[in-house]
Amino acid sequence: MAGLVTLSRYVLQRERDVEGATGDFTLLLSHLALAMKVVSREVARAGLLDAVLGKTGDTNVQGEQVAKLDVLANDLLIEVLSDLPMVAAIASEEEEHIRHTRAGRLTGKYLICFDPLDGSSNIDVNVTIGTIFSIRRRETVGVEATPEDFLRPGTEQVAAGYCVYGSSTMLVFTTGQGVVGFTLDPQVGEFILSHPEIRIPDSCTAWSANVGNARHWLPGTLAFQETVTSGEGRYKRTSLRYVGTLVADFHRNLLQGGVFFYPGDRKSPRGKLRLLYEAHPLAFVAEQAGGKATDGTRRIMEIAGDGLHTRVPLILGNSHEVELFDRFTAADRP
Ligand code: AHG
Ligand code: MN
Ligand code: MN
Repeated sequence: MAGLVTLSRYVLQRERDVEGATGDFTLLLSHLALAMKVVSREVARAGLLDAVLGKTGDTNVQGEQVAKLDVLANDLLIEVLSDLPMVAAIASEEEEHIRHTRAGRLTGKYLICFDPLDGSSNIDVNVTIGTIFSIRRRETVGVEATPEDFLRPGTEQVAAGYCVYGSSTMLVFTTGQGVVGFTLDPQVGEFILSHPEIRIPDSCTAWSANVGNARHWLPGTLAFQETVTSGEGRYKRTSLRYVGTLVADFHRNLLQGGVFFYPGDRKSPRGKLRLLYEAHPLAFVAEQAGGKATDGTRRIMEIAGDGLHTRVPLILGNSHEVELFDRFTAADRP
């Protein structure tokens, strides 16, 4: 048993090393993990239950079709976080406005952002999906949090990560001291430390982008694509891998080396992905694993949103390819 490190054991141990730690963060993370375990269970039996698969018939704040599992994951996360006194407010990709929690609306020191279900279009076809979260500390305590409190740069995150519901369920996160990964043992019902120190390999095993949009891409993006598909130098064995679930594409590239890009293009200059729920948290993880994340020009972590649902071009992966992308696309900038 000595080698079996559960998530709670791991964070408790870490907290003991931090002077003045109150246990709040440990409690918060274990509640997030609990919510993701429940989502994982629902995902695993989604095909059996009519109540879980399919669309609700509604459209969300992003103008996208809402799947039942989107709603289920969103409601579950909100429910679990709402009773925690250290959480003041929550911003979700699925909700137009921020939510103040029941227990911590005045006293809570943390603000949580999440994408409850990432890769919604893959739910009904049994392809990997995920949950992304970001935790930041707020500056003002004693009053209700405002949306502006969320519009701060990603450098202010204290922790961020994701859960990927794949052939096994994995939780990967950073608290600013590297990146760790836990795999869910479904029989035991616990996340077990499986990846004690994740570093993104400095090789481009895969590049990931929706090539269906290539007709809208700017010349620099096309030139970058040409390089990674050239079969030369670093790209001798580079494959195209695109799941269409950001978490899954990022997770593979994080473990095996590679780059993901959802650029700004002629059709959508601001790209598709959302700063608060997708770009900030994964940028934090990427950087902590030795990689990079930019919008083609700026470091994602330094960008502050101008709205809760701000979209941002996202170039994410190992440093070499992210830097190369930015060099190739420099001439496309206005
Ligand atoms: P979400 O399901 O949370 O709306 O996110 C979907 C995102 C992301 O997961 C993925 O990388 C991207 O959309 C795929 O978009 P395309 O279908 O345009 O490639
Ligand atoms: Mn998403
Ligand atoms: Mn989503």
